Amino acid sequence: MQPIPLWTLQIPDTIAGARQKELYSLLSPAEQKRHDAMESFTRQKEYLLSHALARLKIAEVLKMPPADVPLLFEDNTKPSPIPGSLVPGHGSLVTGPWHLSLSHTHLLIACALAPCPVGVDVEPVGRTKHIDDVARRMFHPTEADEVCALIGDEKKLRFTQYWVLREAFYKASGMPLTDMIKGIVFNIDDDEKVQFTINHQPSTIPWQFSLTSPLPDHIMALAVQGPLSHTIKDIQLTEIV
Ligand SMILES: CC(C)(COP(=O)(O)OP(=O)(O)OC[C@H]1O[C@@H](n2cnc3c(N)ncnc32)[C@H](O)[C@@H]1OP(=O)(O)O)[C@@H](O)C(=O)NCCC(=O)NCCS
Repeated sequence: MQPIPLWTLQIPDTIAGARQKELYSLLSPAEQKRHDAMESFTRQKEYLLSHALARLKIAEVLKMPPADVPLLFEDNTKPSPIPGSLVPGHGSLVTGPWHLSLSHTHLLIACALAPCPVGVDVEPVGRTKHIDDVARRMFHPTEADEVCALIGDEKKLRFTQYWVLREAFYKASGMPLTDMIKGIVFNIDDDEKVQFTINHQPSTIPWQFSLTSPLPDHIMALAVQGPLSHTIKDIQLTEIV
């Protein structure tokens, strides 16, 4: 079984100046430029911490210095697959490509790394005000009917669960949003296990999903497109600041 790691990091109120400089120096020139152009300090902090965390974790896997990690972002936004590297001690064994996915809220960063397409999304519960309208516009009609029939906290929770599942799937699959709305449907059973159908058929491509609550009032989904021998590893809170 190959575990798919998913790291989370709680965002601190402040980062000591020296540590901030160190983390900034791990970013590529393109990442530094994007960071510097951000107007909000909060967004800058999320960006710095998530990209530094990604580089530190990929560096551990590829056994190279974080600043040398060949991490690129398509259109300056979507993480590109990361080529494998020679593994010291294993002759010419090459691993990879590795797939990275990032997500952040004002409180938390999530970073997933897998040898197959992967997507992570984390959201606070209760962020969306007009839940029924948004569910009708963005979800499959079956999901929207379920959400619209619920009330109170149950409605907010189920809406957020479908939202993060859909965002995680979008990040991993790259399926256009218009195809996703009617083409895929999630179902969450009483044990919080996620069922998934695509174009009214059980998916022929092996997809795995997990739903967790890494912080109170936060819901996180992980989508992994890979054989069932890939197991989703427990979340670990990471300290880099
Ligand atoms: C781009 C998008 C996926 C970002 O998601 P978000 O919830 O706003 O923000 P998150 O913090 O979870 O994720 C942001 C990270 O996703 C990554 N990302 C950006 N575009 C991406 C893409 N097309 N595919 C995969 N990952 C992407 C980046 O690493 C980004 O972080 P960074 O800017 O710090 O590098 C989202 O805005 C989007 O366009 N979704 C389309 C589908 C949709 O509308 N779903 C609604 C629910 S049904």
